[in-house]
Amino acid sequence: RAAAQTQGARFDFAAVEATTADTVTLPEGYEWKMLVKWGDPLHPDAPEFDPETRGTVESQARAFGDNNDGMALFTRDGRHVFAINNEYTNLDILWGEMAEGEAPTDEQIRKSMMAHGLSVFEIVEGADGWEVKRDSDLNRRVTTDTEMDIAGPAAGHDLLRTSADPEGMMSLGTWNNCGNGRTPWGTYLACEENFNGYYSSSEERAEDAEDTRSEAFRRYGINYSDWGYGWARVDPRFDISAEPNEPNRNGYVVELDPFDPEARPVKRTALGRFKHENAELVINDDGRVVVYMGDDERGEFLYRYVSEGTWAEGQDGGDLLDKGQLYVAVFDPEMTGKWVALTPDATGMSAPEIAIHTRIAASRVGATTMDRPEWVAANPSKPELYVALTNNKNRGVKPNEGGDNQDVNGPNPREVNNYGQILRWTPDNGDHTADGFEWRLFALAGNPVLAEALEGVTDAEMAEPADPGLAVENVYPGSENVTAGNMFNSPDCLAFDTRGMLWILTDGNYSDEGPFEGMGNNQMLAGDTETGEIRRFMVGPRECELTGMQLSPDGKTMFVGVQHPGEDGNSNFPDGGLPRSGVVMITRTDGGVMG
Ligand code: FEO
Ligand code: CA
Ligand code: CA
Ligand code: CA
Repeated sequence: RAAAQTQGARFDFAAVEATTADTVTLPEGYEWKMLVKWGDPLHPDAPEFDPETRGTVESQARAFGDNNDGMALFTRDGRHVFAINNEYTNLDILWGEMAEGEAPTDEQIRKSMMAHGLSVFEIVEGADGWEVKRDSDLNRRVTTDTEMDIAGPAAGHDLLRTSADPEGMMSLGTWNNCGNGRTPWGTYLACEENFNGYYSSSEERAEDAEDTRSEAFRRYGINYSDWGYGWARVDPRFDISAEPNEPNRNGYVVELDPFDPEARPVKRTALGRFKHENAELVINDDGRVVVYMGDDERGEFLYRYVSEGTWAEGQDGGDLLDKGQLYVAVFDPEMTGKWVALTPDATGMSAPEIAIHTRIAASRVGATTMDRPEWVAANPSKPELYVALTNNKNRGVKPNEGGDNQDVNGPNPREVNNYGQILRWTPDNGDHTADGFEWRLFALAGNPVLAEALEGVTDAEMAEPADPGLAVENVYPGSENVTAGNMFNSPDCLAFDTRGMLWILTDGNYSDEGPFEGMGNNQMLAGDTETGEIRRFMVGPRECELTGMQLSPDGKTMFVGVQHPGEDGNSNFPDGGLPRSGVVMITRTDGGVMG
């Protein structure tokens, strides 16, 4: 009973129910409003967003980008600056209705390029709360065209040389930045995720032509056609037949100084090249910098970087993110695991090749296939880490049925994993540089209500689901801390607050049907990592995911990212018109501290 009282005391809010309402739903005593939305100008002389045209290349280049994801709020000398990833764009929303088969104009394609990248802007607190300071000299956009330096082991390597950059030292732009990180020296880390979907080939190919792509192109999903963006049409560097090395220049962690609008961002290749989710940086007791990172793809891996040098308060980053060792996680079923160094000896690859073809190097040392590692979060009060393994419909599915031979393993225990899980581990002896760790699952998401209702029911007795992955046999109840009152699927963003509460933001199936019945829209929950209790705090509008959470320095405002509302055409968030992604500010009506 004493434990129950303590856990009740740690949650200062009543759980909200799952809902499919097209708004932000919060517990009583909390309210929300928008800080910034896709298309909002970031400069005093930039035009207001025009919902008719949905902006132009020029307006978008000076306005908040689309589909915000990871973000960090920095404070220095009394000024507060946000750096926010604009991961990608929903082309139907950005471009508006297109006739069947109608090709986008060059202008539309260029506008989509300007909607990607990063938005950096100052905020100030007025009588009505925080607002964007449009006339700040710190406001800037980073887009596909921003010059950035390449640093670390891959810099200058043959595989990075292109006709525009024969030295392999300078890259243009960043896109598909998903999660993020921050450093104690005050810089932002933007993590390049699905960078591959923007490349295509202009080579004439018969429909049944043999796939002649390299092992690396196949492993990273670089293909003959893109995901509909058409960037190669306006910029030949996205044409892999013209510039086969260009894709090797994306898939990195990009470091940016939010307080210097002139500073060139830097691609830190020592942190490896894969579909980076976030980069959770901790300073080990001995001062070394340790970065934990997930590769968000079914069957890919969890990584760790350890710097050679050490950091102390007051220093800048120097070469701490360029000189160090990358490791990949190998788990065993006995609840322990180890970090295996990706060295030339262990992989048979050179240091630059390991930095560029990291996935291939990690496979060579027997890394454990994971259920799509999303954000990693470090407990601020002790050496303990959490990673969201969002879902994996292919786990346990044979190749002839569309799977890829990933058997279940310790931290990924379920076949056709529709729901995901949150894994936690503690480094041996509290040392983030130790080779060994112990792991446990913090939560296995699931649908305990449906699982109980379906007990004893077979697939044959049910209507055939549209997708075989959604069959009855794939309805799992989840762990004990997953209940009728807090069901969710596909944990994605994880973030601790200063009190040690773990916030869980979801990016899952919002159909509210089948295996997901009763879960409603995507949501944010608070997890008490001491007791295991999880309580739902917020539900997002329709068809969004919630991602990115930051607190104001006084703890009274919580900033949460609402990404891709209405991605299937069924939301008018936030103001009844065109759906627009953005950052929501949540406060208590009594003006108290959030939590
Ligand atoms: Fe951009 Fe891993 O989600
Ligand atoms: Ca996302
Ligand atoms: Ca994500
Ligand atoms: Ca996700």
